[in-house]
Amino acid sequence: MDWGLKNRLAQIIKPQNNRALMLAVDHGYFLGPTEKLENPKKVIAPLLKHCDSLMLTRGVQRTSVDANTDIPMVLRVSGGSSIIGDDLSQEDITVSIQDAIRLNASALAMSIFVGSKYEYQTIVNLGKLVSEAEQYGLPVLAVTAVGKELGKDARYLSLACRVAAEQGAHIVKTYYCDNFEKVVQSCPVPIIVAGGKKIPERDAMQLTYNAIKGGAVGVDMGRNIWQSEHPVPMIKAVKAIVHQNYNVDQAYKLYQKLISQEKKKPQGNKPQQKKGNNPNQKKGNNPNQKKGNNPNQKKGNKPQQKKGNKPQQKKGNKPQQKKGNPNQKKGNKPNNQNKSNKPNGNQPKPNNPKK
Ligand code: 5RP
Repeated sequence: MDWGLKNRLAQIIKPQNNRALMLAVDHGYFLGPTEKLENPKKVIAPLLKHCDSLMLTRGVQRTSVDANTDIPMVLRVSGGSSIIGDDLSQEDITVSIQDAIRLNASALAMSIFVGSKYEYQTIVNLGKLVSEAEQYGLPVLAVTAVGKELGKDARYLSLACRVAAEQGAHIVKTYYCDNFEKVVQSCPVPIIVAGGKKIPERDAMQLTYNAIKGGAVGVDMGRNIWQSEHPVPMIKAVKAIVHQNYNVDQAYKLYQKLISQEKKKPQGNKPQQKKGNNPNQKKGNNPNQKKGNNPNQKKGNKPQQKKGNKPQQKKGNKPQQKKGNPNQKKGNKPNNQNKSNKPNGNQPKPNNPKK
């Protein structure tokens, strides 16, 4: 594997423990302003530092993420259909490799719709994207999207994940299911699990725990984090399962502790900054207006202080362990926990083929 590709993958799946916590905020690309993700900038800001990588579209990256971040971006490059259109499986590649590189993407993401009307188109697109991305050392994450008629059982998901891996995907994102181990065992590349629709927090923690125990490298979770009443405590609890081998009880206790700390924090000490979340709202924040907030206007003669120029601390310089099946863990198993307690809420809504 080329150095660049390996290095980008290591930004997403941490080599220290072969685990990954990806925060998904790409939902708007076919759902529009999904509940609680109406304002991506507001949602992303407090969560960003807690995830290993952020999965999003270029529009949200450019408008709603601070470019000074050192969190790697997993850029969705497929799209073309919306929830009110004819067929969600009719997707194409919508972002050029040049733009992905301009955006400093650490990986590209696209969906395949195995078994759907547009299966051929999406699988061929995956193969082509991998060929192109590999020229630049960019890894590709394939999302095995599920449709109305497509099941989410181990048989189907094993097929879809394997098809993605055979086309050269470097990571496959899929759903948790009964006999998930089977899906993992027959997929030669790392598997990351989507959170699915919002379920009670404890169940989402159980899903995370089960997915890791079943051999996933981690979760790519969206709604179960930012649709929670307490997104920051939630992401921290999920992170503790992914990276610190917390079991569900431990993670849930942490979640509750963080909520009570949140409540104790004195409110209103800081004036709430309402700036810049939506360029269409609030006069003074419109970059096209001639008042103070125009980045092109000269502000005094002070030289601009560069933010965040601290030298980056290298994390975990441990030598990489040799890996067999990239989905299998060595010694970092989550603490023993009842496996059978699987949340059922991870099923897609019948009318929402992708989620
Ligand atoms: C949509 C996606 C989403 O990123 C994915 O479903 C993860 O988000 P959630 O945890 O809300 O399911 O790829 O196709």
